[in-house]
Amino acid sequence: MSNNKNEIHESEKKLLLNHDYDGIQEFNFPLPNWWLTTFWGAIIFGIGYFSYYIIFNGPDLKHEYFVNKEEIHALRAEYLAKLKKFDVNTYTSYASSPEMVKHGEYVFNMNCVACHREKGAGDIGPNLTDEYWLFAKGTPETIFPFIIEGNPLNGMPAWGELLGEDDLYAVTAYIMSIQGYPHENPKAPQGEIPEKE
Ligand code: HEC
Repeated sequence: MSNNKNEIHESEKKLLLNHDYDGIQEFNFPLPNWWLTTFWGAIIFGIGYFSYYIIFNGPDLKHEYFVNKEEIHALRAEYLAKLKKFDVNTYTSYASSPEMVKHGEYVFNMNCVACHREKGAGDIGPNLTDEYWLFAKGTPETIFPFIIEGNPLNGMPAWGELLGEDDLYAVTAYIMSIQGYPHENPKAPQGEIPEKE
């Protein structure tokens, strides 16, 4: 190792490891700072993460899911409560528009005929055109909230969860428009004739 090319520079001497393999020596270069920073950073982050989530039971995804679910329930309840408030002016604007009543017929044909038959003659669900009523009292302000709430245990879905406000007002207006429709073989009356207020 007398040859100039292999001579070790003074500044590098302190990096030489203290051993010699048949004349072969080894440097010990320090790890680069970026690497060390990442390494120690990851360890510190790991300790923090582990303490927060495992030792101190920090909120995890499951917790977030339940919080969100509760929020959604609350929002839905609030929405349905608001939706159920029958607004006469809105209703009148729907009922007085032949187009909206026609739209109500469309909503009825898409969602209701399966149980209430064409033009509400009644089948699984009661006849919606006679004077007899089980829940609603034959008026828009009693029919509207009943459609929203339904009676799912008896097979009448809660439409407030499925239809928008427009469709609900329109279908109520449609039901009012078919009162007294002369059906050929309607379902037998169910419920009572509501007392006039
Ligand atoms: C899967 C069957 C089914 C569908 C679909 C259905 N209903 Fe009903 N509906 C019923 C049944 C059953 C009742 C009676 C509930 C009871 O006896 O508790 C009822 C009751 C009603 C009543 C109350 C009648 C009364 O006498 O007080 C109204 C109003 C009504 N439905 C409107 C609708 C509208 C509007 C739709 C479509 C948006 C609809 N229903 C779709 C089964 C259905």
